[in-house]
Amino acid sequence: MTLTAPYTIDAFHADALAILEKLGHSSEARAQIRARLEQLAQQPGILPDIALERLHSTGSTATILREGKNGEGALMLLALPAEAPTPIHNHNTWGVACVIEGTNRYWRWERLDDCSDPARADIRLVEVFDHTTGQSAEWGDPPQDLHAQQGVDGTAYEFVFFGRNPQLQPRAYFDPDTGEVTYAFATDQMK
Ligand SMILES: [Fe+2]
Repeated sequence: MTLTAPYTIDAFHADALAILEKLGHSSEARAQIRARLEQLAQQPGILPDIALERLHSTGSTATILREGKNGEGALMLLALPAEAPTPIHNHNTWGVACVIEGTNRYWRWERLDDCSDPARADIRLVEVFDHTTGQSAEWGDPPQDLHAQQGVDGTAYEFVFFGRNPQLQPRAYFDPDTGEVTYAFATDQMK
């Protein structure tokens, strides 16, 4: 690839899988993938048509665009409307989210308990920040994989790259007031 050639979803995903194969799920691999995801999100016209078809959907919508063997290295397209934030949830894996269009507000939460009780969690808000086209947010493996997101002044579209496809196992949802944790499989319609 020359410096002037467009960077495609297929090229990014091939690069990401090659990086994981060479470096494992290391911090160096994550940094290299994050840089490439930021490059991908800034390509003119990169927003897949599938996002536009769902423009009028309610709630956040997500579609896995590519994934490697056994769900490793999954690339998701995520649309985050401005009406309400997602619930606080986990992903059972590390990941990085980069905005394609719009502005995303990102709430990073962390667990303070020892994770021994699957039905209860003591969590606190660590930071809130907005990011826009080409800017990313990264989270670590469990239990550092808690967050909430919302579009600002309109729907935000993101590419999200996960170490492993998060839709292969139940997602946890956290109530910060009661400490209750509930579980559900994510589908294309994530409420
Ligand atoms: Fe998420």
